[in-house]
This record gives sequence, C-alpha cells and structure tokens, in this order.
Amino acid sequence: MIPFNKPFLTGKELKYIDQANNLGQLAGDGYFTTECKKWLEKNTSTSCALLTHSCTAALEIAAILADIKEGDEIIMPSFTFVSTANAFALRGGKPIFIDINPLTLNIDTKLIEKEITHKTKAIVPVHYSGFGCDMEEILNIAKKHNLLVIEDAAQGIMSKYKGESLGNIGDLGCYSFHETKNIFAGEGGALLIKNKKFIERAEFIREKGTNRSLFNRGITDKYTWVDIGSSFLPGELTAAFLLAQMENAKEITKERLKIWDFYHKGLKDYSENGIVSIPCNQEDRLHNGHIFYLIHQTNFKRDLFIKKMSKKGVMVVFHYIPLHLSPYSRKVYKTDNLKLPFTESIYKRLSRIPIWLGIDKELVLEKIIESLKEIEHECKISKK
Ligand SMILES: Cc1ncc(COP(=O)(O)O)c(C=O)c1O
Repeated sequence: MIPFNKPFLTGKELKYIDQANNLGQLAGDGYFTTECKKWLEKNTSTSCALLTHSCTAALEIAAILADIKEGDEIIMPSFTFVSTANAFALRGGKPIFIDINPLTLNIDTKLIEKEITHKTKAIVPVHYSGFGCDMEEILNIAKKHNLLVIEDAAQGIMSKYKGESLGNIGDLGCYSFHETKNIFAGEGGALLIKNKKFIERAEFIREKGTNRSLFNRGITDKYTWVDIGSSFLPGELTAAFLLAQMENAKEITKERLKIWDFYHKGLKDYSENGIVSIPCNQEDRLHNGHIFYLIHQTNFKRDLFIKKMSKKGVMVVFHYIPLHLSPYSRKVYKTDNLKLPFTESIYKRLSRIPIWLGIDKELVLEKIIESLKEIEHECKISKK
C-alpha cells in the first residue's frame, strides 16, 4: 500500500539528537532551539520567531497576546483544523465562521467585512494547502477596523505571498512541524511575531508566564511570575531533529513541488473536462507542494474514488469536517442554521492524494486516472 504520508528523513536528525544529548541540556531553549529560531528569522525575515511544541501552542499564545476575553469575536474559515478555533475558544472567544472561495479553499475575503461587529478582535486567515490567502485585502480590512491579523500558517512553511513568507504578513503567524507537515519534528511549531510590540510578552507567556527570557539574557538576576502563560516550548531533542529538517527545507520543498507539478500536468485534461477540479496556480503566490487535492463532482464519486484507490494500493484521504458542523460548535455557538454553501459542498467532495519524497508518482497518477475513468464509466451506466 502506498501510504498517504511518509515522513522524509534528511539523515542528520539522529546525529543532531546525539549532539544535543552530549551538550547536556535537554530542556528547551538550548543550542538547537536557538539555531532553529535563527533559521526561521533568517528565512522568513520575521522580527522574532519562538519555537513551540505545536502550532496549536503557537495559536494559544497568539490568543493570549490578542487579549481575547469572554464574548470577543474572531473571524476565521470553518474549513480548518479544530485548533484554529480552539485556541480562541479557550479564552472565551467566539469563532465567527466564514465561507471559502471555491477556487482557492481559503477564506473568502469578500465576506469578512459584513461579519465585523464591535466585538470583533481578530481575523485568522488559514493558508490552506500552503497557498497564501488574499493577504493584501485582509490587511486592508484589518487596518480599517483596527483588528489583529493572526495567520494560521500551519501548512505554510516556505510559501510566499507577493514575496513575503506566509506567517510573517499579519501581526502574528503560526507554523506546524507535525509529522504530516513538509518540515517536521514529530510534534512541533513556531510563533512568528511580525508586530514587535508582542515580542516581550510572547516570551513570558511561552515560558509559563515567567520572565525567564530576561534572566537567560542576564537582564534580571532571578526569574519570577510576571504574566499568565503555560509551558509552550519544545525540548532540545525536538529542536535538534527539526534543525536537520530546516537545513534541507529548500530541497524538500523543491522535490515536493516536482511531484505536485507532475500531478497537476497529468490531471489537466480531467480538470478541463470538468471531471475533477484541481488546485490552480496563482502567479503572485509561491506554494510549497503541501497538499494535492481533487474536488470530485459528487460526494458519491469522491467516496468511490477513495475506495477504488485503496483497492489499487494507494491511500487517499478526505480532509476537514467544517467546524460549524461539528458537535461542539453546534452546541456552544448554535451554528445549526449557519449556511456556508461552498464549505458544505466542497468538504464532501474533496480527496487528497499522497505526496511525499520518494513516492512512485507515475504509478499514483496511473491509478488516479484509471479510477477516474472507471468511475465515469460506472456512473454513466448506473446514471449516478
Ligand atoms: C490549519 C491548521 N491549523 C493548526 C493545526 C495544528 O497543528 P499542530 O498539530 O502542530 O498543533 C493544523 C494541523 O494539521 C492545521 O492543519
């Protein structure tokens, strides 16, 4: 079976872990965490990058920095991972879910402004599949209404929008280094802080609400409780693994893009015939080959495609169940009557095909085309 994901090892991960062990500091913020921080700051040009144990943690720090209070509203797409909303829900915030643009699967910027109220605190664009949202429009809206922009760039490492790294366009940005991401450390993440006014407080929150960062720099002679916070930093073994990945980020991205382009070219005819939709390249944004998705004509055809691919030895998966349809949102935010037509139609028709370094892409494409043809034939006969 060709798995949906196969993490790529650069070969240096264990060497760096061994070095971290020999250095003798296995808790966080040692040599390797500092090197990862430097790499992120250099490669994204952000003012400050803080390594976290997950993107979820980075989002939670962002929600504290945004000073989210009971009843504050945060605008985000419904087509996203639970952490995008949960980070704000934990502080009493209310997610206001918006539909996606069917061409990009990112938040539909045209719908944002009419959801803004006196309670709105922030806009949280999610860069689905490593393609940047329409950030220029989002920043303009945020400026006009004095709102923060917190980018959920979980899938966005190495992607750019008009020359800027995703995650370093809004006030704050959050990356994931979960095993399923292009660059990974098992679990891992980072907070990018473009808006410098948040740097000092972000450091306190990340280190259990203490001013240990000042102590580490020799600015205070002891550290103490100065703010709310939690333990959001990873240990050095995670950072050591991650540095090995980061050092190869350019090559990894290049290889992923080759596979992505191969699928894109191979499926062009099927998308032009309207049999499936495939992601469209956008000239002003460089993506990172994180996800290759197909949008089928019907839910029936999507499910049949996943079954057929599995029988042919290729694992294909669906993606997010929209948050406004989730049991928690329906119970707490009463989203039963919320209608997000594109989100509701697309999530049931979307499949993701495997994309990882070393995959037999020719074989996968062959099986995709075979399956799509079989489905068209079978549906024609049964008129489904
Ligand atoms: C859009 C989005 N945000 C946040 C996360 C959470 O990332 P992590 O697992 O690093 O906490 C994910 C995970 O896949 C994601 O897809």
